[in-house]
Amino acid sequence: VVTKKRQTVSQISLCRALSKLGIVSRSQARLAISAGRVTVNGRTVRDADAWLDPRSDRIALDGKTVRPTVKRYAMMNKPTGLVTTRSDERGRNTVYALLPPEYAGCFPVGRLDKDTGGLLLFTNDTRFGETITNPERKIHKSYVARVDHTLTSRDAEIMEQGMSLADGTRLMPAMVVRHGDRSVCTISITEGKNRQVRRMLETLGFKVLSLVRVRIGSLELGDLAPGQFRAVTAKELLMLKESIQ
Ligand code: URA
Repeated sequence: VVTKKRQTVSQISLCRALSKLGIVSRSQARLAISAGRVTVNGRTVRDADAWLDPRSDRIALDGKTVRPTVKRYAMMNKPTGLVTTRSDERGRNTVYALLPPEYAGCFPVGRLDKDTGGLLLFTNDTRFGETITNPERKIHKSYVARVDHTLTSRDAEIMEQGMSLADGTRLMPAMVVRHGDRSVCTISITEGKNRQVRRMLETLGFKVLSLVRVRIGSLELGDLAPGQFRAVTAKELLMLKESIQ
């Protein structure tokens, strides 16, 4: 039942309910509702802020019942050379070219720059995507960087203390593990500022030879080969969701 005032906790606004079904954005939903294209339980409702219960009320757009879209979660090992935007004004190849058709409604969670490879998560679950990228949630994203000369313990310390970039941007503390010959390290960050890891290393005087994201929260890239794509397993998803509660 549609009500003018909220009557139960499970009610949400029509506008929100329609956009949550996943085929239109919030603003498109508002327009469609005021244009009289939306019915609830068979009756036209023009008030985008009317309350209803999405579990029991049936919403239709242009006469067709809108069913919830299945939430999808998948991961790609992004090869270098592709950009993470949907369409590139300079005509460069995008990661969307590697997306199987059943994932067409999905978007990448955070970006990897063109020269960076590795773990890229795709979903059509906007709330989940926003949570993963929200710096306040402090979800670690880990990158393996290869640089042109030895990283000292002092370099690691500077990154771990929360450094400033050349343009004055202050960063949250990172975690750094140096490997083998010390020109390879794993850097974990909780923010996602543009080209952040590259800029951190460049600020310290390094040339970045390669950069690969290997982990987002509990989700690991593992042995997925560059260019490969697979669904995130139920177990991986559960662990990731539990870690972001
Ligand atoms: N840091 C970078 O420098 N590039 C990315 O793509 C992600 C993090």
